[in-house]
Amino acid sequence: MAKGIQSGKAAKTVFFCTACGNEQPRWFGHCTACGEWNTAAEAPPGGRTAPAAPASRGRARWVPAGGAARPVGPQPLADVEMSSTERSATGIREFDRVLGGGIVPGSLLLVGGDPGIGKSTLLLQLAMGLAADGRKVLYVSGEESEQQIRLRASRLGQVPQSLLLLCETDLETLLEAAAGVQPDALIIDSIQTMSRGDLDGGPGTVTQVRECGLALLHYAKASRTAVFLVGHVTKDGAVAGPRVLEHMVDAVLYLEGERYQHFRVLRAAKNRFGSTNELGVFEMLESGLREVSNPSAAFLSDGSRSEPGVAVVASLEGSRPMLVEVQALVSTSFYGTPQRVTSGFDQRRLAVLLAVLERRVGLKLGKHDVFITVTGGFKLDDPGTDLGVALAIASSFKSRPMLERTIALGEVSLSGELRRVPRLETRLREAAQLGFVRAGFPRTQAGDVENIGLEAVAISTVREAFDLLLGEKIAPPTPRDAEPRP
Ligand code: TYD
Ligand code: MG
Repeated sequence: MAKGIQSGKAAKTVFFCTACGNEQPRWFGHCTACGEWNTAAEAPPGGRTAPAAPASRGRARWVPAGGAARPVGPQPLADVEMSSTERSATGIREFDRVLGGGIVPGSLLLVGGDPGIGKSTLLLQLAMGLAADGRKVLYVSGEESEQQIRLRASRLGQVPQSLLLLCETDLETLLEAAAGVQPDALIIDSIQTMSRGDLDGGPGTVTQVRECGLALLHYAKASRTAVFLVGHVTKDGAVAGPRVLEHMVDAVLYLEGERYQHFRVLRAAKNRFGSTNELGVFEMLESGLREVSNPSAAFLSDGSRSEPGVAVVASLEGSRPMLVEVQALVSTSFYGTPQRVTSGFDQRRLAVLLAVLERRVGLKLGKHDVFITVTGGFKLDDPGTDLGVALAIASSFKSRPMLERTIALGEVSLSGELRRVPRLETRLREAAQLGFVRAGFPRTQAGDVENIGLEAVAISTVREAFDLLLGEKIAPPTPRDAEPRP
């Protein structure tokens, strides 16, 4: 860094990256934060976020009435009041689960997702749920007309009186309205359509999104209102506009779909009030998003079928076990380098499993292509699913289907032995509930599970799993089956 450039007059100008919002005291050709080139832009003097800058007009207004009484200097952490942690349920259980148990007053949440995925639908349902529960909700839309939203709401159910609607894109006006209404929850759909008149640039620019986000952050904290921001997501997965929005909010939730067809998965990428492991699963219907309280059942294909190459695993998603089907296809390779193609499973993890299968079990997979697909579009990160994947591969290779209604759990070590699986009992109970009759799991855990309603098969090594969990060889697949499933 060049010395002296930050001192004196030069320090007044700030440059920021239009891709990610990263601030630098001087112009830059290459953003060190996000790696983009030629994205530097000069920040307007009024739009500075540096703490030394005087509070701008819009921001100063949203300090709470009793704000002056707040201690200015450091204070003992132990003396800080804790009353603010009580949560209120949203009425949508899957939403509460992702939030970590409900909305915290004064929190700022960002709900991101691709256009058309159902963000507006989800938040309108949330608004209607909260309002039906007696809370005052202000839904601000910058994207749709009153009529459009009314029409959608009528499809979603009864429209409560305490749900207020404002179609507005000017931030000052909407904050004014919010101050008058004093809602318990404020929903902004979307942050990219809001703008402050005193700033240059149209809605959706980095400066506008950042400053509007900041003003809403101050409003949320000062008025102790829960504020939900809808944000559109760009192709590479970032919330469009500055990533700085992700830093300032308390939680970033993503609504994902497409891969799940009519299923929608809500997951937290950041959560100051809870874990980021929990998933909420919804189904998009004619009447809006419906909670799927038993996703395992929804994601499994009919289950009774046992074909070579198919195994069911129980993956732990947060606190919830999720049963997912893994499909493997092993076929003779016609190229010099055999292909290893996975969807929903880590490629390097597959390489490890293949090496273990080759060395510890003696399966000669070196001249075979291996394809792995996880159904439902899930990504398996849980090492407890290793054994299931290994069995699917061996099953396809040997044309020996898994025993019917059998589930396999265990982490596979390099020596081919099975390691313990956390929360085994929870997973097995889920499997039993869905009609599975037999479960293979690490022998070391044999004492942990009793009366689970499944035939328990304790297993020490991967090799043993093959002997105990795979059925008889069946006729080799017809050429039609030899193509990888997408
Ligand atoms: P929307 O909530 O407008 O998406 P976003 O705000 O993320 O852009 O959802 C739009 C899609 O959802 C649209 O393709 C239609 C579908 N949809 C339903 O299938 N059922 C419904 O009840 C509603 C309201 C929308
Ligand atoms: Mg929308």
